[in-house]
Amino acid sequence: MPDLVELPDPTFSRRELLGATAAALGLGALACTPGAPGSPAPVQGVEPFRAPPMDRVRIGFVGVGGMGTIHVRNLVRIPGARITAVCDIVEAHAQRASGILTEAGQPAPTLYTRGPTDFVRLCETEDLDLVFTATPWEWHVPVCVAAMRNGKHAATEVPAAITLQECWQLVEEAERHRKHCLMMENCNYDRMELLVLNLVRQGVLGEVLHGEGGYLHDLREIKFASTGEGLWRRAHSIRRNGNLYPTHGLGPIANCMNVNRGDRFEYLVSMSGPARGLMLWAQTHFSPDAPQRRERYALGDVNVSLLKTAAGRTILVSHDTNLPRPYSRIHMVQGTRGLFQGYPDRVYVEGRSPSHRWEPAEHYLAEYDHPLWRFEAAREATAGHGGMDFLEDWRLIKCLREGLPTDMNVYDAAALSAVAPLSEWSVAHRSRPIDFPDFTRGRWQTQPPWGIVEP
Ligand SMILES: NC(=O)c1ccc[n+]([C@@H]2O[C@H](COP(=O)([O-])OP(=O)(O)OC[C@H]3O[C@@H](n4cnc5c(N)ncnc54)[C@H](O)[C@@H]3O)[C@@H](O)[C@H]2O)c1
Repeated sequence: MPDLVELPDPTFSRRELLGATAAALGLGALACTPGAPGSPAPVQGVEPFRAPPMDRVRIGFVGVGGMGTIHVRNLVRIPGARITAVCDIVEAHAQRASGILTEAGQPAPTLYTRGPTDFVRLCETEDLDLVFTATPWEWHVPVCVAAMRNGKHAATEVPAAITLQECWQLVEEAERHRKHCLMMENCNYDRMELLVLNLVRQGVLGEVLHGEGGYLHDLREIKFASTGEGLWRRAHSIRRNGNLYPTHGLGPIANCMNVNRGDRFEYLVSMSGPARGLMLWAQTHFSPDAPQRRERYALGDVNVSLLKTAAGRTILVSHDTNLPRPYSRIHMVQGTRGLFQGYPDRVYVEGRSPSHRWEPAEHYLAEYDHPLWRFEAAREATAGHGGMDFLEDWRLIKCLREGLPTDMNVYDAAALSAVAPLSEWSVAHRSRPIDFPDFTRGRWQTQPPWGIVEP
């Protein structure tokens, strides 16, 4: 079995630690802003960022393993999208992506397979509009930064970044180079998540006060696999303790609360419990002399983090990937008139539902299904989590082609990803509260909420 990857130190660098400590003392974003020279001063009240429209979106794809291949299969079906270059450290993966393109009748892409930083050559050499990465977490920021420095928009899989410093780097590079840089949070586009957003927008749930989400997914087999995520994801469990994968559960709730568009994450507290699950798995699945049996894990099996927003709302975010359990993202959104609760999907609306009793969420689809889910192509999508991945790719290409602001932007990428390093800090400090940096530098107060968009 190959060795696990060497990670860059995912915990706080000295500068971040100073910043985080200062933030905990109330100095907030000031303390965490690297303030790199040349950063344009943020302007309050400006429109969301738009780039000039383009007829075709020429794409360089970096990292075509499990998730990257799903995106490639989607993108070949989206009008106006053209993958012209593919990069992967495993040549067979790049060849597989190339085969998907040629089978779809498109020209073979140029392949970049000379090693872990060959994406820089791709960004420097190719004439592209967008670089899209689905590499392991530690490569997301280096790829996005190389893309933007070479005049390309950037899109990354989740989480966008693993340290606060990296979150700021994405924001500053996007502002400096005037490029889109977004995190592809597919769960924002799932049918129930968009139903809830529509219920909120139509006022059915009243004023939203509280949300709960998370990533509760038994990944033990995946983390110990000798392919795919088994090659890199377990390393994070060895080194880090916190809410390492917060964006799937949190993204849709943040949208319902207009985070970065009228509200923002203000601070969090976080707790992790004991680490047992991975060790127990190793004991029962590997021979006594296997190196996996000697590994020790920092990551508590269950992490719970509580976020407070500037408007006073509360959000519970859970991370639970090392224990036997069925899948859940919790997905609860509660307002003054009712609530949605996922897994299984239910709704209660005062005056509409039977008193004190849940209704199946499906009852609300006829009236409140989101326009994106009335779109035939999404229902027919075969690649990726039941259609939501297709919708997020479709919307990205549409926004780029029409010169629209992207649905999610670099501030969302930074704010959602920041939960992981902030939670690590809080866990390491007896769950003390820690402030979120304001990555928008005040613009959250004037940005318009994400609308009810059409396909
Ligand atoms: N949104 C979702 O539902 C979802 C689901 C799964 C994974 N993901 C995310 O997608 C990303 C990839 O996960 P995955 O499951 O596809 O992992 P994977 O290990 O299957 O794929 C990663 C790919 O990147 C390649 N790679 C590694 N380092 C590279 C480098 N420096 N340059 C170029 N290529 C490199 C690997 O060879 C592999 O092909 C992760 O960020 C993960 O969190 C998201």
